[in-house]
Amino acid sequence: MSTLPTNRPKITVPAIMRRKQTGEKISMITAYDATFARLVDEAGVDMILVGDSVGMVVQGVENTLPVGLADMAYHVEIVARTRPSALVVGDLPFGSYQVSPQQAVESSIVLMKRGAECVKLEGGTHMADTIEAISRVDIPVVGHIGLTPQSVHRMGGHKVQGRSAGYEAGGRERLLDDAVAVERAGAFALVIEGVPRDLAKEITAKVSIPTIGIGAGPDCDGQVLVLHDVLGLSAHRYKFAKAYADLRQQVLDATSAYVADVQSGVWPDDTHSFH
Ligand code: KIV
Repeated sequence: MSTLPTNRPKITVPAIMRRKQTGEKISMITAYDATFARLVDEAGVDMILVGDSVGMVVQGVENTLPVGLADMAYHVEIVARTRPSALVVGDLPFGSYQVSPQQAVESSIVLMKRGAECVKLEGGTHMADTIEAISRVDIPVVGHIGLTPQSVHRMGGHKVQGRSAGYEAGGRERLLDDAVAVERAGAFALVIEGVPRDLAKEITAKVSIPTIGIGAGPDCDGQVLVLHDVLGLSAHRYKFAKAYADLRQQVLDATSAYVADVQSGVWPDDTHSFH
């Protein structure tokens, strides 16, 4: 049985940045509702990402592209309402920041007003102006490079990036440039997704902001996973993820036992009845 942290201090943006020097690894996990936000916070995560993966794991859509700013604002608000010690990261969805830096600032303000403490957006070199504009109005930004799910059609699927050399999108040298551009533009942390371990290690050594990996090996300054993968709620198991529980099976077992009890009349009995 693990000991859960009690009354831990609020995790702030400067505290996350300091981890680069102290070497204490950063743990980030997604959550989209109050129940799970409370649980993951009690378990001691450093950062809660209200991710646009909400599209796949909550809304039942195929990829992150249909998720809108109003959806993200709603989920940010219900997570932030739990007042977690963990830092709340609001994910900017597809179409809410790509049009112009001004659009990105306006969308970031929407998420911050609903309780986000920083925002995350996808893209490297070509998003530098946008990251700069958001940072200029004192909204802290988490960058996200590598396998960027909002670029699913350009990548031809959710495919590992940085395996081939080159400066074109997804090329190894380009990803190194992307990381430096994101840092120079003012991001305080960088998610690296779906790249070879050695590249993530090189990027982590090159930038002075913490890197947070997903499918990027153990050498990043922290890790992030989707909550449903950690809990084993998804039918699909990914190579890069680790299921620490098999809640899918437990939910199936519990719900089918309930159905059987109702059908047979075993439950509710007199002890579950009011008199
Ligand atoms: O939306 C999300 O869950 C993410 C993670 C995969 C990093 O962006």
